Amino acid sequence: MTTSVAAPEDPLLDVRDLRVAFEPGTPVLDGVDLAVRAGEVLGVIGETGSGKTTLARAVVGLAPVAAGRITVDGLDRTALRGRALRDARRAGTVQYMFQDPLRSLDPDLTVLRLVGQPLAITGVPVEERRHRVLAALDLVGLDHALADRRPAQLSGGQRQRVALARAIVTRPRLLLADEPVSALDASSRNHVLRLLDELRGELGLAVVLISHDLDSLAGVADRLAVLYRGRVVESGPTDAVLRSPLHPYTALLAASAPGGGPARHAELAVLRSAATRPPAASGCAFAHRCPFADAACAPRPEFRTPAADRAAACHHAPDWRTRLAA
Ligand SMILES: Nc1ncnc2c1ncn2[C@@H]1O[C@H](COP(=O)(O)OP(=O)(O)OP(=O)(O)O)[C@@H](O)[C@H]1O
Ligand code: SF4
Ligand SMILES: [Mg+2]
Repeated sequence: MTTSVAAPEDPLLDVRDLRVAFEPGTPVLDGVDLAVRAGEVLGVIGETGSGKTTLARAVVGLAPVAAGRITVDGLDRTALRGRALRDARRAGTVQYMFQDPLRSLDPDLTVLRLVGQPLAITGVPVEERRHRVLAALDLVGLDHALADRRPAQLSGGQRQRVALARAIVTRPRLLLADEPVSALDASSRNHVLRLLDELRGELGLAVVLISHDLDSLAGVADRLAVLYRGRVVESGPTDAVLRSPLHPYTALLAASAPGGGPARHAELAVLRSAATRPPAASGCAFAHRCPFADAACAPRPEFRTPAADRAAACHHAPDWRTRLAA
């Protein structure tokens, strides 16, 4: 089980030892810990299939939690049942922005109706709804003239803003944004990221920003959680994690990002030098790709905190770094 975590004090979202399994015995998330404070952006990075969407869906009650605890503002959401669960959902404290806005936005509804949906569910009267929808459009920088359009009549960037407006219209405390910029071109991507950054300040939002692209997270996330095959393998402040990764997988992600000179190429060559072999059934989940794997890596590594506010699940952290330059 994971134990010690580089977590902020007094978190709004607190996930402890989360296990999610769609089929018994084959967990997609296994022992995930993370925490986010109000006004903070936590970037969750990991390759496809690592469990990022499942993590977000578990927080909003859309994935089967087999064990662990998910607390939002002190309320244990995994313990909620029946009416209490419905009430918690309707309150709109937690909002999830789906990975694919085109598929998640009903094509037959106008922007006004789409953004107003979460308010309609809670019984907000039509006039007030309209007022709050227009205020949400203002917040995300969308012209009121778009209110009568349907998703097919919008650009990708506009659609993503509509999804964002819908997510914040209830004034949530926590926003889970699942790959909000991966389908956008560079200019729209920067706009949406800047917008998220402004909103967390203006609304005091806690944001979990999911991406498989480190570049998108680097400029906006205060802290990073690196997910690998259903486990958080490293977490800590974004700058520190990128400057001196404690887990070889994080180092691989950081070194693979665009840019970087000869030193970066030399590091990448070392990090990619592991002989290809199938993943082992036990022990460190990264061992089959890790150039630093040895007999000590046979037991599954626990999360350790070798430095303040930093944590990694690697038996050889941070000593493996000395071999990077070799
Ligand atoms: N409803 C489901 N039923 C069974 N397995 C699922 C379900 N949803 C996800 N999985 C499995 O869980 C694992 C993690 O999937 P998930 O969608 O969370 O990954 P991801 O990190 O979001 O990937 P991507 O970057 O491609 O969006 C995958 O192996 C996937 O096949
Ligand atoms: S525990 Fe061993 S195999 Fe796993 S990442 Fe660390 S050095 Fe590599
Ligand atoms: Mg996903």
